[in-house]
Amino acid sequence: MNKKTILNIKECKNIKKLTMVTAYDACSARLVERAGIDMILVGDSLGMTMQGNADTNSVSLEDIIYHTKIVCKNAPNTFIVADMPFMSYEISVPQALENAGKIFRETGARAVKIEGGETILPQVKALINAGIPVMGHLGLTPQRSAMLGGFKAQAKTALGAQKLLEEALLLEEAGCFSLVLEAVPAKIAHVISKKLSIPTIGIGAGNGCDGQVLVFHDMLGLSDFKPRFVKKYAELGDLAVKAMQEYAKEVETGAFPAEEHTFAIADEEWDKFTKLQ
Ligand code: KIV
Repeated sequence: MNKKTILNIKECKNIKKLTMVTAYDACSARLVERAGIDMILVGDSLGMTMQGNADTNSVSLEDIIYHTKIVCKNAPNTFIVADMPFMSYEISVPQALENAGKIFRETGARAVKIEGGETILPQVKALINAGIPVMGHLGLTPQRSAMLGGFKAQAKTALGAQKLLEEALLLEEAGCFSLVLEAVPAKIAHVISKKLSIPTIGIGAGNGCDGQVLVFHDMLGLSDFKPRFVKKYAELGDLAVKAMQEYAKEVETGAFPAEEHTFAIADEEWDKFTKLQ
């Protein structure tokens, strides 16, 4: 498999729907790459999936760098995007440049994702001018969930939808190579996808987007997070619990370990050993 570039991603617009799944560790990275998914997102959703927090705001730059390095090492043929965590870019353009530069230099990710529109446009432009590809993220921006009153669908009014469209166009004009649209009405995401020349990647935004992204743990049934837009393609959590219950039962009854799980000693050595007792 050849590793994709931002040009390959952009070329998929109107030709092929893009797929993206999050990954955070060696196991998830290898599985996503084996499945042939187009892009991996090392999302700040790791605050929930890996750290067990209620939101993403406590994720640090060091957390993202740590997880992205592991993912890049274990999915060497997949295009990898790293999330800019909360408060790693909002303060100023130099702050965004320094932190995105650190992610880009130290991890192997070939793009960063930043939540927000008009207010972070100077940061987006500066990163792109510095040679760091940026994936935008509009609609429900989880880092601002406290301001949004929770994890709620966005752009449900005509004015809200118009603002979303304008911000999407601004991000495209600033040079983003693609744009995540999260939890927005399908009809609005469809219109935005038609108006943009860069691919939109939807999550809870309907199938009018140019691609889709899902969180690894949510789609495989490994988390308790159940937003309506997640489709569970497997119930690996239930399977894992069942497997461990069976293991516990077999340990208790002595059925495990069986002979094939043990090491033998040569009869001759065994005889010598018994004579030593
Ligand atoms: O952090 C994340 O996983 C994300 C996706 C839900 C788009 O931002």
